[in-house]
Amino acid sequence: MKSGKLDKDEKVILAIETSCDETAAAVLRGDLKSKSPKFEILSNVIRSQIKEHAKWGGVVPELAARLHIESISPVVQKALKDSSLNLEEVNAIAVTSGPGLIGSLLVGVEFAKGLAFSTKKLIFPTNHMEGHLYSALGEKADGKLRSIKQISYPLISLVVSGGHTMVVLMESENRYKVIGSTVDDAAGEAYDKVSKLMGLPYPGGPIISKLAAEGEPSIDFPRPMIDKNNFDFSFSGLKTAVRYYIENKGQRLDIRKRKIQQDIARSFEEAVVEVLITKTMRAAKKYKAKTISLTGGVSANIRLREAFALESKKNKISFIVPPMELCTDNAGMIAIAAYINLRAGKKIKKPEFVKADSSWEIS
Ligand code: KG4
Ligand code: ZN
Repeated sequence: MKSGKLDKDEKVILAIETSCDETAAAVLRGDLKSKSPKFEILSNVIRSQIKEHAKWGGVVPELAARLHIESISPVVQKALKDSSLNLEEVNAIAVTSGPGLIGSLLVGVEFAKGLAFSTKKLIFPTNHMEGHLYSALGEKADGKLRSIKQISYPLISLVVSGGHTMVVLMESENRYKVIGSTVDDAAGEAYDKVSKLMGLPYPGGPIISKLAAEGEPSIDFPRPMIDKNNFDFSFSGLKTAVRYYIENKGQRLDIRKRKIQQDIARSFEEAVVEVLITKTMRAAKKYKAKTISLTGGVSANIRLREAFALESKKNKISFIVPPMELCTDNAGMIAIAAYINLRAGKKIKKPEFVKADSSWEIS
């Protein structure tokens, strides 16, 4: 892939993501005909709403939609500017159509449709979870976000976000099957709820993991479903165990004390990491995986990344995890997912046939 002019089989994708509380846009150029995925993410712009939601203790859907409306146009314009390409050079528009908050999704989808109508372009409606799944194909090298050199299949992917926890078996670049998921709360959701239980802000992941780094794993929290011979998870019980621990100690536990917060956080994180690793390795062994990938917002967790790297090495399986900017919600991952689908010959749509679907699950 040369810089500057596009090669004949290269296409430019403008991707838009507004499924929750980040307004994001990215531009990717990629080769649709190369033997293995070959792309570069030219720009990856994220406008986070976290500050606006934090004071309410979580994402307020109505507020999220309104903030997306304010940000979508400048974010898309910045993504184009950063890519040094203009709208005429874009071959296809990818937009997250689900799953997510319906009001948030609608802003991105309708904006993409307007753009497509006015420029006579087509849209590839993209699944947010597929975005996370395929984000593992991206790496950062020489300051650039681009495709990883090579991946060996079968691959087992753990996708852990605020709304989902799933184990996915990938047999090839574009064939996958979800083989496990959470029966209640997602791992990221558990982080967020534990943070709230300790009177700490949203999102919980970064705060809890920071506290955990200084704490001792002195509290024996449960490892739900760890011994069940499947790839499903349950994190609601773990969150409840943390709640009981805090409530039962009552007056004797000053939850505002940093040392207490650190130990709870560390013990909780220990339980989460152990369950996630055990289930993923079980799947990797069963399906003789050559590669393991870790994706989704929770994959930004340093302890989880380190534990996965170590365990994969022990079992002589390659391990890949995307750079931080592709872990939490972003449009770069949406561009990668659309690129992989277009390589596979999936149909691109006229804007009038594109709809937001808040409960669109992959299987
Ligand atoms: O993928 P994502 O940005 O949005 C969803 O699709 O849900 O994931 C957000 C989730 C939140 O629950 C957040 O607390 C969690 O990812 N998260 C983390 C970390 N950074 C974000 N969890 C654990 N450790 C982190 N460092
Ligand atoms: Zn996400």
